[in-house]
Amino acid sequence: MINYPKKLDFIFDKLYNYNALPILVGGFIRDKILGLNSKDIDIEIYGISSFSKLEELLEEFGSVNSVGKSFGVCKLHYEGYDLDFSFPRVDNKNNIGHRGFQIEINPNLDFKTAASRRDFTINAIGYDVKNKILLDPFNGLVDLKNKILRVVNEDSFIEDPLRVLRAAQFCGRFELSIDKKLFELCKDMVSNQLLNELPKERIFEEIKKLVLKSNRPSIGFELLKKFGTNIYTSNIYILDEISKQLTTNSATNTVLMLAALCFDYNDKQATYFIQNLTNEKELLNRVLPLIKNHNKINEIFNSNIDNYKLYKLATEVKIEELLILSSAIYFTKNSSNIYEAGDAIYKRAKELNILKEKLPPLLKGKDILNFKIKPSPEFSKILDDAYEAQMSCEFTTRNGAIVWLKKYLKLSKEIKV
Ligand code: CTP
Repeated sequence: MINYPKKLDFIFDKLYNYNALPILVGGFIRDKILGLNSKDIDIEIYGISSFSKLEELLEEFGSVNSVGKSFGVCKLHYEGYDLDFSFPRVDNKNNIGHRGFQIEINPNLDFKTAASRRDFTINAIGYDVKNKILLDPFNGLVDLKNKILRVVNEDSFIEDPLRVLRAAQFCGRFELSIDKKLFELCKDMVSNQLLNELPKERIFEEIKKLVLKSNRPSIGFELLKKFGTNIYTSNIYILDEISKQLTTNSATNTVLMLAALCFDYNDKQATYFIQNLTNEKELLNRVLPLIKNHNKINEIFNSNIDNYKLYKLATEVKIEELLILSSAIYFTKNSSNIYEAGDAIYKRAKELNILKEKLPPLLKGKDILNFKIKPSPEFSKILDDAYEAQMSCEFTTRNGAIVWLKKYLKLSKEIKV
């Protein structure tokens, strides 16, 4: 018995009335069996084949998105769930790449034939909601129990190169061991350069799932190495430490994972590594400063925690993020479970209120305007000097900042004269 959200019965009841039989499939069922909840639900509809009929039936439940029309997929966001409806089908490879398929929809296909296009046995389990029956034609349940990732169909598996990445991703995410035949298939696909057909973004999507959803992403990266891909560095065990300290923000977590992978690279090497994975500039711009400063926590701690150096560091990175990276590196290299430098820097940065952001500047442009100085390039020089003075604790209040400015302007006038 699979415990699916009961609110879906409103949709299912309507489908039964039109002789359509919904079968829940894929990741939702796999996750349920593992005791995990998922908001993404794939539903295969047997008994009807008209896409417009399906759209019409679903319309009353929300706005139906038919972006996947060519694949016979329509999406519905309903009561907080992302529902993907599709028809049973057979995929025939007719072009290179992850999407190079011609599809043959057949509403009367038996579940086993339809499920044979799926990648792994654990992803080919279905649940017939009307008759409350689990459909498991490839023994995915046993594989899930024994924690084995096994291929459903060797011939169709190799037709989709993305599945190599998915194999590594699922092994990392659910700590599965890979079946020997599947391992050999993936290795062959890599050596036949099939992964070159894939768009970078699709590869990165799987890498993100691996690093964000696994307790031990290193398992997946070890496999990627054994398959012969170049998505590997010698720092993969640091990822396992990072995963113990993930934040609530997935972009930040991705940044931390990427930084961990190449923390000991120079700027150029790291840029090359990351640009091989993604064109997202924002990610690169956040990763590089972390890498550049990865050793600063130890350096500042060893020089008796100079506040100025910490303030300066906060202008380059979020100290909170750097601490996660540094401690992960430390714990990977040392057996101790105490990171003295990290704890001390955390405490001081917290006192200084610069864990999440840099020290807010006390002196503003409008303060300079008040001294009847017109906006000019000189402005930013004054503001930079003021910020340096503030970081050196020459003033700590707004009044102090104004007094500082007066002296500063007087002095620069004297110098000019
Ligand atoms: N699938 C496949 N081959 C792919 C992608 C998907 O066979 N290259 C099938 C699998 O049966 C999979 C289902 O489509 O379970 C749904 O795919 P997707 O939503 O990408 O992944 P999930 O398995 O649902 O896992 P996740 O939790 O990562 O979304």
